[in-house]
Amino acid sequence: MKNYRIAWLPGDGIGPEVCEAARMVLDAVGFSAEYLPGDIGWEFWRKEGEALPERTIELLRSTDCAFFGAITSKPAREAEQELTPELQGKGLKYRSPIVRMRQLLDLYICLRPAKAFPGNPLNYREGIDLVVFRENTEGMYVGVEYMKPPECFYQDPGFSRIPRDAAISIRSITAGASRRIVEAAFQYARKHGRRKVTAVHKANVLRMTCGLFLETARQVAAQYPDIAFDEANIDAICMWLLKNPHNYDVIVTTNLFGDILSDLCAQLVGGMGFGYSGNIGDRYAVFEPTHGSAPKYAGQNKVNPIATILAAKMMLEWLGETDKAARIEQGVARVIAEGKVRTYDMGGNATTREMAEAVCRAAA
Ligand code: IPM
Ligand code: MG
Repeated sequence: MKNYRIAWLPGDGIGPEVCEAARMVLDAVGFSAEYLPGDIGWEFWRKEGEALPERTIELLRSTDCAFFGAITSKPAREAEQELTPELQGKGLKYRSPIVRMRQLLDLYICLRPAKAFPGNPLNYREGIDLVVFRENTEGMYVGVEYMKPPECFYQDPGFSRIPRDAAISIRSITAGASRRIVEAAFQYARKHGRRKVTAVHKANVLRMTCGLFLETARQVAAQYPDIAFDEANIDAICMWLLKNPHNYDVIVTTNLFGDILSDLCAQLVGGMGFGYSGNIGDRYAVFEPTHGSAPKYAGQNKVNPIATILAAKMMLEWLGETDKAARIEQGVARVIAEGKVRTYDMGGNATTREMAEAVCRAAA
């Protein structure tokens, strides 16, 4: 077996305990790798003014892929106040490490499956099996914001409608980034025998940005006559997903819409305890549970580790270790179907560790 080198980034809050659970399962299916721990998160923001230190970025560049838990973040003003005194007043700005990793490493696909495991008491409906492809590098996440519009903007007459005291965020959409995410969605559909790709947008209002995304999606769709294509407005699909989730299969959308929609889809199949992500580029990938660091549960050995365990499964798929990945998925499915071991969110009282142990037994 190849000697994999994996950057191991548990982060803070519940990150370390759910990563530990995933690690137990990776070991149980006989996956062996060198796990290289990396510094990331709130602690490093406070001490160093950087939540994703340069040494961690180097670690990412020298490994096969990364596994990420969760980290705490706070709004700008509080973030500044929590810096050590020497770092205050230097104009340091908190930047989300996960967003930075996606952009720095060009991890343009955010792959978020939402599958209802049979027997999960939290399923909204049985049989849901969706996959969200979220564009992961641009859109509302380019990080270009102003507390008030720069004066030069008013050279454009369109800006006369924007008050001088408005805060501004830039949404940047390119044909290139749109094309590659839609292509990734169609390729995935073809490879996994999926019947349909739905492009989600708001082109009736965001005529330029969503218009470009949608136009590009149509061009790509035309090259995949074997796969059905449809389009939905973001507001409408939120309603339709609740009304008839079985109508959807692969969903592809821009960054912020994908952020929002993937939480909705996670809730259809049990909530954030079941939502997991791959941030995937052409050469590197970062796998993570979609949930946050849930500081109020930190250190309690209480939260559901299934999302993180499934993120590990996705990592193995990406590495080509498909048999071991399948065993993890089957183990999770069996534990859920049996219903004997359930964490609090599922109405049980099993601990994080007990859930991980149950999956280990079922997957071994
Ligand atoms: C997600 C999260 C992140 C995002 C946050 C933590 C920056 O909500 O991965 O969905 O907005 O992308
Ligand atoms: Mg999110």
